[in-house]
Amino acid sequence: MQEASLLKHLTLAVMRGQIRASQDPHRPGWHLAPCVGLLNDPNGFIYHAGYYHLFYQWNPLDCRHGSKYWGHWRSTDLVHWEHQPVALVPSEAYESHGCYSGSAVIADDLITLIYTGNVKYPDGSRTAFQCLAQENDRGEFDKLGPVLPLPAGYTGHVRDPKVWQHHGQWYMVLGAQDLQLQGKVLLLRSDDLHQWQNLGEIAGSNLGGLGPFGYMWECPDLFRLAEQDILIFCPQGIPAETERYRNTFQAGYLLGQLDYTDASFSHQDFHELDAGFEFYAPQTTAAADGRRLLFGWMGIPDEDELYQPTVAYGWIHTMTCPRELSLQGDRLIQQPARELTALRREQRQWQGRAQDAPHFPISSAEMIIDVSVPFTLELGHKLMLEWDGARITLSRNNLRTGLREFRYWRGQLHQLQLLCDRCSIEIFINQGEAVMTSSYFPAEPAQAIFNGSAELCLQHWLLSSPMLE
Ligand code: FRU
Repeated sequence: MQEASLLKHLTLAVMRGQIRASQDPHRPGWHLAPCVGLLNDPNGFIYHAGYYHLFYQWNPLDCRHGSKYWGHWRSTDLVHWEHQPVALVPSEAYESHGCYSGSAVIADDLITLIYTGNVKYPDGSRTAFQCLAQENDRGEFDKLGPVLPLPAGYTGHVRDPKVWQHHGQWYMVLGAQDLQLQGKVLLLRSDDLHQWQNLGEIAGSNLGGLGPFGYMWECPDLFRLAEQDILIFCPQGIPAETERYRNTFQAGYLLGQLDYTDASFSHQDFHELDAGFEFYAPQTTAAADGRRLLFGWMGIPDEDELYQPTVAYGWIHTMTCPRELSLQGDRLIQQPARELTALRREQRQWQGRAQDAPHFPISSAEMIIDVSVPFTLELGHKLMLEWDGARITLSRNNLRTGLREFRYWRGQLHQLQLLCDRCSIEIFINQGEAVMTSSYFPAEPAQAIFNGSAELCLQHWLLSSPMLE
């Protein structure tokens, strides 16, 4: 469809939907959410000329997945964000069924987007083109068209390019499904972002010692941190185990060393990035000061999505909070980006037995809890956190089936840091050793209610709700 026509319908959807969306009691106070419609993956996350840019997969026309656009926000501080002109609309034949996920680089001092043009055919088959778009001086993005068709040996599921520079050359990791229906990550190289050479598979199902590991790998990201190369990706088709892999799809990482000359990646075991109910398609970038920052999508593409109550208000899903990554031994540590402390308002401190604690407001709040002895914590009457001395169990009623569902983390607990908003909670365990990220829809008044005789020491802050302008 013509770009002008798509933009007219997008404008109509925003005009019709925005007031209703803003009246939703579950509208987040400080997390990034779509003004209307569905948001999924973070895309093109990059810092340039004083601004963080965050693009996002967006279906402005509906709360279901469909033909995706790229929305665009920017921020100087990761806390206050402003809308930018919509970056990509799926108007061309090579992206007829969506401008799918991708990344951004700075080339010739301009933000250049590399994304997947998704094309579906009436017989159910599909193809994919990796495409470029370049920033112009009006803050819009001019499409430069496809630079890479489907590589031979793969199905139409090849997508989500993440590009970076290394020793003067461009490299890309690409999620793929081979003809045996195994998930893979490809490494490609280019001098100019236009001509790409496929160097081969660097990781995948039945490759590099992994064994069978899913039918498709989405959203790869590769970066260096503390002398290690880290490959983040989202494998699809991993069977659930008692305490892990319990979401429909996973997000996790492999730690190792990438050999750029022979395109091989020797790596250790897979670890999940999150132990909560909703976390997917994370993307990282380097901050101005060199920190590795990450945004994830607080959602999972599954059959439960449309049962979220925000759908009645015409919008669905948010980003996670921005996080900073570090390495401790062979494990990735995630902590809330330090910039988020700017959200803190009134502070309260409390110490005593869990069951004597006052009910703390959590519709927009942060709590740091020092505790090691068993206790329980009920959140917004909808989510239960139980620490039994050996593992944390997080449970809630599934919105579709009504059945109780559970997620687990096993280890020795010392500290919890809870970041709460009107439709989500991010639980950082032991200063980021693990995270349990979940969307949830607390009943009013949203409160944290402790139970048990454990001695707690806690700090509580109300968080401000900066405007997304
Ligand atoms: C991950 C994903 C990507 C794809 C995008 C489409 O959530 O399926 O693989 O590019 O979403 O919106």
